[in-house]
Amino acid sequence: MAAIATEFDVYIHELLTVRRAAGEAAPADLTTRLLTERIAYRYLTDTQIVSILRLWTVGELSTISASVSILAHYLAAHQEIQRDLRANRASLPVAIDEILRIHSPLISNRRITTTDVELGGRELAAGDRITLMWTSANRDEAVFGDPDEFRLDRDPSANLLYGAGIHVCPGAPMARLELLVLMEELLDRTTGIGLVPGTEPTKAVYPASGFTWLPLRIS
Ligand code: HEM
Repeated sequence: MAAIATEFDVYIHELLTVRRAAGEAAPADLTTRLLTERIAYRYLTDTQIVSILRLWTVGELSTISASVSILAHYLAAHQEIQRDLRANRASLPVAIDEILRIHSPLISNRRITTTDVELGGRELAAGDRITLMWTSANRDEAVFGDPDEFRLDRDPSANLLYGAGIHVCPGAPMARLELLVLMEELLDRTTGIGLVPGTEPTKAVYPASGFTWLPLRIS
């Protein structure tokens, strides 16, 4: 992970160098805009720009690609739910959030506590390193009963798919739109999506989620 992060940072630094050298001829994109953006009269540092671009690309790419495989697999593995969704497209937005509650595209994020706090009966000291397991929270039996049960009438505020608090996902509206289009297209352009008998999809390994190999039979 550290090696990939470094490789990515070098790649972004190169993009900045190329744009600086091109001056007026630099492509009119978000990366160029970040070079001229000022916050409180100050230009962003390269470290800040790399961090911003890392957040947006990694925050989006990994979660959306995992979601694509999770949603396609869920349709294939649950024929009755697939039939219901084909017949009732209006329930897709709620269904997508519910499927991704059952099988999280994002497993966890990290935190450092800023103050002493008691959480779930555990004492945490200021400065403790903790991991927020979204997967575990979204499958909490005390909140959801049987975590595998697919239900369209759950309280949406209990679903922590996009996080909560000041770091709640700013990309959630876009993610929801992208995944709705994905599901609509998958259902519009097919009559059936099924698993392939005799094959076993390969699940991605933590910290990634979704599937790295997913054979489907599409008709
Ligand atoms: C199914 C897709 C997605 C899921 C499940 C998801 C989930 C999350 C979660 C749980 C957080 C909170 C992280 C924390 O508290 O530490 C988060 C933050 C974030 N997400 Fe998403 N996200 C998705 C798609 C996207 C997209 C499409 C974008 C960009 C267009 C995006 C950009 C971000 C950014 C920049 C943050 C950091 C916010 C901050 O730290 O203040 N995400 N996301």
